[in-house]
Amino acid sequence: MTTQHSELQYLPADLQQELLPQHVAVIMDGNGRWAKRQGLPRIMGHKRGVDTLKDLLRCCKDWGIKALTAYAFSTENWKRPQEEVEFLMGLFQRVLRQELREMVEENVQIQFVGNLKALPTALQAEISRSMETTKNNQSIKFTVATNYGGRQEILQACRAIAQKVQAGVLKPEEISEELFESHLYTAGIADPDLLIRTSGEMRLSNFLLWQMAYGEIYITDTLWPDFDRKEFHRALCAYQQRERRFGKI
Ligand code: FPP
Repeated sequence: MTTQHSELQYLPADLQQELLPQHVAVIMDGNGRWAKRQGLPRIMGHKRGVDTLKDLLRCCKDWGIKALTAYAFSTENWKRPQEEVEFLMGLFQRVLRQELREMVEENVQIQFVGNLKALPTALQAEISRSMETTKNNQSIKFTVATNYGGRQEILQACRAIAQKVQAGVLKPEEISEELFESHLYTAGIADPDLLIRTSGEMRLSNFLLWQMAYGEIYITDTLWPDFDRKEFHRALCAYQQRERRFGKI
């Protein structure tokens, strides 16, 4: 896999370490369009997208960002042509198998969020293995949202809480934001400070609906496979210009 590890390896001088986002989330949009522009089949865009994600993960680690979350497959993505869905499932499995050793060496903790039970069994096995193997790693928390939908996540949390109330182990007045969060797929993961979406679309597309209540959003026209360290640097500069008020004045 190609990476540009030598380029911008250390935090660029115009970025302030103490103002970096702790947690960056990405909607990796535009793989299909990128491939089409190159005269290639759509799947080549996804393959190239993996290289981009891999380099972004390494870049976050190099620059001291402690968490990266990527939207790899939404609950709506099942509606794509069957061969593309099959290709993506196979790609996730292959990438996980191939990259596990490097993730261990680089002290990356990988986890998956979403309705994982609906994924192919072989992929579920690879997911469990990678999560178990890296669970104590400390350098960066890398979360992959797969078969993920924000509304579905909220609904399943509501159901789990309602069942506890019905069973008499929880009182309705005990339902706080903290308790609710502890029933989301992302329990234990801090909310993203910055969400980056590539390829120009200005929507959340059912991604981290609860978690993005106060997160900053950065949208670029760049297609995901072209989102390199320089583009990320630009996104972080824009983020550092913003004043985060969390509802205060
Ligand atoms: C959106 O582009 C991209 C996806 C649905 C797939 C993204 C997945 C990866 C980059 C692989 C990640 C792999 C691992 C193991 C984490 P699109 O197809 O919607 O592009 P378009 O809008 O141009 O059609």
